[in-house]
Amino acid sequence: MSDEAVVSDGLSRVDQPWWRSGTIYQIYPHSFADSNGDGLGDLPGILSHVDHLQWLGIDAVWLSPVYPSPQHDNGYDVSNYRDIDPRFGTLDDCDRLIAALHERGIRLIMDLVVNHTSSEHEWFIEACASRDNRYRDWYIWRDARPGTVGGEPGAEPTNWGSYFSQPAWSWHESTQQYYLHLYASQQPDLNWQNPAVRDAVYELMAWWLDRGVDGFRMDVVNLISKPSDLVDGVVVAGAAFADPSPFVRFGPRLPEYLAEMHERVFTDRPADLVRIGETPGLTVEQARRLTRTRECGLDMVFQFEHMEIDRKPGDRLSPVALSIPALRGNLALWQTALATEGWNSLYGNNHDQPRLVSRFGDPSPDHWSASAKAVALALYLLQGTVSMFQGEEIGMIGATLRTAADFRDIRSVNYLRAAAAAGLDETVVVEALRLTARDNARTPVQWTTAPDAGFGSTDPWMPVAEHPPTITVEAQRVDPDSVLHFYRALIELRRTHLVIADGATRMLDTGQTPIMAYLRETVAETMIVVANLSSASQPVPELLGQNLRAASTPLIQSGAYAGANSLAPWQAFAAFLPGATPKGAP
Ligand code: GLC
Repeated sequence: MSDEAVVSDGLSRVDQPWWRSGTIYQIYPHSFADSNGDGLGDLPGILSHVDHLQWLGIDAVWLSPVYPSPQHDNGYDVSNYRDIDPRFGTLDDCDRLIAALHERGIRLIMDLVVNHTSSEHEWFIEACASRDNRYRDWYIWRDARPGTVGGEPGAEPTNWGSYFSQPAWSWHESTQQYYLHLYASQQPDLNWQNPAVRDAVYELMAWWLDRGVDGFRMDVVNLISKPSDLVDGVVVAGAAFADPSPFVRFGPRLPEYLAEMHERVFTDRPADLVRIGETPGLTVEQARRLTRTRECGLDMVFQFEHMEIDRKPGDRLSPVALSIPALRGNLALWQTALATEGWNSLYGNNHDQPRLVSRFGDPSPDHWSASAKAVALALYLLQGTVSMFQGEEIGMIGATLRTAADFRDIRSVNYLRAAAAAGLDETVVVEALRLTARDNARTPVQWTTAPDAGFGSTDPWMPVAEHPPTITVEAQRVDPDSVLHFYRALIELRRTHLVIADGATRMLDTGQTPIMAYLRETVAETMIVVANLSSASQPVPELLGQNLRAASTPLIQSGAYAGANSLAPWQAFAAFLPGATPKGAP
């Protein structure tokens, strides 16, 4: 970890894009609010809660896919990019949502899923019709491996596994070739080398922008460029397939495609339209390269490294103990690398990750509230754009997952199936998934203390997580000390103090303690942020103590006060430091 910091000029720039100090709120439509009682959330449900979003003070909503889809991957398998799935509503509902958000000063960011389509998209249906169909080359087809019989195990063109525990190739019997899918077999990868594919994507993006949306969150966008020659990868011990990531996570033409997208879609449009790239596996240099200037095509990355600190390397579904020093080190690495060029997202959970308080906090009744606040404070006062997830603002905890039958997500289901085929003990696999599965984040939002949690259906597609009545919007709205009010204050703080958007970050060395402490500095001011990320009191290291004695009254805080020499469990706060103080490391 480096604590080198680059201090910006400290000027408040009136021309800085909104997202530098802004907060984006992700809505996962399946689980937000159900207006018609069919068990699935929908657009009218979202419309009924826009006042909550306004009260919270967020700047933009990122809406997970609501397009027509067979829902194999909950909408990340799009079968028509220019419509709304009837399960979620209509295009009129979508227009109403755009208008209702805009009236409240909130932007709408659509999810753009164009690394792959659904296998039910008409492009793929056409492509499957014959080898000489005009859409054939819109996808990635290969013959069976020489000397093998297509469709038999081992005949796949390469030994790649998909990210959902299957081979990355599926055999298409009637045209006698394999197609590539980095995710489920129902999610064939588009062939971005084909200019017609790129044209079609740029056109559909323009179509949504013309409709009034304010940008895109681009699903796994760093995977869109594949090398022309697809070759075998390395199969690590114990794995069934090779990981394709080394070949596809920063493919040869990725920067070119993103620059072209900028040129074709955004040059003549307002500069505040945002482009967020979901980019698993990028290095800091690659991230910088894609977000350095607006012409690069992305305004920020949404990378995963801090989400992998408590996972077995290469296996996102196997947990290992969380090390706060390791987390701190990784956050510092990204802060420093993108300090003056490029931009990062700050997030701790989303629809693909377990709930923040269950993972980095302590959901037990004694610590739930303080830990939810401390973790948010430690993470969201860094430099970057906050991307928070529905229900996070009330400290929602993970799903109640007891047996294999409780999992709905295709990734969990495929993983369980593969584990069973490999002869693994199901109880052990379920125990791991209970902590790591995406299902954790996908339970209905708990709006009220009513039996359906105010979600709107008595039999929702995923059961409401077991929770105390305090973990509801209703209960927390009337409690000024709640997690909800804390989030609101934090969002406001980010907007008020430009040092949070602009300042350099200097991580303070707190050794092997679970204390995260850092400075945010411009030439004009220094903010100190301290968080004890543990359920035990911690002695304050000397350098930190010197800073704390000089700090002003906290701007925001969580947990009890434990005196000058120690931090109470989950005690966290931010304060300004006056001019001449002991600050950074020696
Ligand atoms: C992204 C989405 C995830 C989806 C995958 C394939 O990572 O966030 O939910 O399964 O891409 O589209």
